[in-house]
Amino acid sequence: MEERIQKLLAEVQAFNAQTKDALEVFRLKFISRKGAVTELFEELKKVSVEEKKRLGKVLNELKQSAEAKFSALQETIENSSTSSSDIDLTLPPVPNKVGNLHPLTLVKNRIIEIFERLGFNVADGPEIEDDWHNFSALNFPDNHPAREMQDTFFIEKNPDLLLRTHTSNVQIRLLEKQKPPVRAIMPGRVYRNEAISARAHCFFHQVEGLYVDKNVGFADLKQTLYHFAKEMYGKDVKIRFRPSFFPFTEPSAEIDITCLICKGKGCNVCKYSGWVEIAGSGMVHPNVLKNCGIDPEEYTGFAFGMGIERVTMLKYQVNDLRLYSENDIRFLKQFQTVI
Ligand code: PHE
Repeated sequence: MEERIQKLLAEVQAFNAQTKDALEVFRLKFISRKGAVTELFEELKKVSVEEKKRLGKVLNELKQSAEAKFSALQETIENSSTSSSDIDLTLPPVPNKVGNLHPLTLVKNRIIEIFERLGFNVADGPEIEDDWHNFSALNFPDNHPAREMQDTFFIEKNPDLLLRTHTSNVQIRLLEKQKPPVRAIMPGRVYRNEAISARAHCFFHQVEGLYVDKNVGFADLKQTLYHFAKEMYGKDVKIRFRPSFFPFTEPSAEIDITCLICKGKGCNVCKYSGWVEIAGSGMVHPNVLKNCGIDPEEYTGFAFGMGIERVTMLKYQVNDLRLYSENDIRFLKQFQTVI
């Protein structure tokens, strides 16, 4: 009998199970009510008193060892989330979810691509700006109502600082440090203190364009934006310039393209005019050049600024500005193709 117990003990110690089924076999064999341990305890009743003492000790050892092994194995199996028998290798894999660029990024990249081919560089500037770069250098006189065209977020602790209301601040930063010729576009985020609605937001994105050199004329501005509109929206799109006012350009013009939503027939996006505004533009005001240390007798330039949200809206017929910043995956995943 002792030999049998020792053999079982060795078997228990060497045993290993990776699945619940294998562990059940172990339980049945050793510790169930009909298992080897119970059976041996039955047999123990029949042996002499001295034998009982000695064999009882070994048998208890077997019992404890089997039980300890059982709970240890049970724990490891339960902790490993899948046992090999749970894996069905014939199932098709769950595809990895592939993200895509935000529609505003796609359109921004496309705008950059169009202007880079015309020789424009990409420039960048700060979103927290001082009054000089956002307003004064751009020929906004102090206390002039033109400042109210753009509702501004000021930084409370320092009223000279504000969140830029347009990307025109980068024009100034560029012209201050670089001698003409300057030919750059400046994409970036801008802020205005406006109530959020389908048509307005407190932050949005613009791309500013600036070309300053000798003999730059209004015809260059027209041709550049004409080219841009055709590249962005296709050759059938029409473009028109409407006289306008900006303190930093003279003359100034707003640029409209034919409404791509109704194809010029009239709808609520174009307010039944058949045209939608996509950019502001004009010839850089001589005062702006002077403020940056550039002689306006020698150099002239044009500038324009467009809203990326607006350009995107017309490209993809998005009818609510808020969709761009809500992070709704159902909206975002509609823009998987690179334009
Ligand atoms: N900064 C102007 C705006 O935000 C747009 C603009 C840029 C107009 C450059 C003319 C020239 O409305």
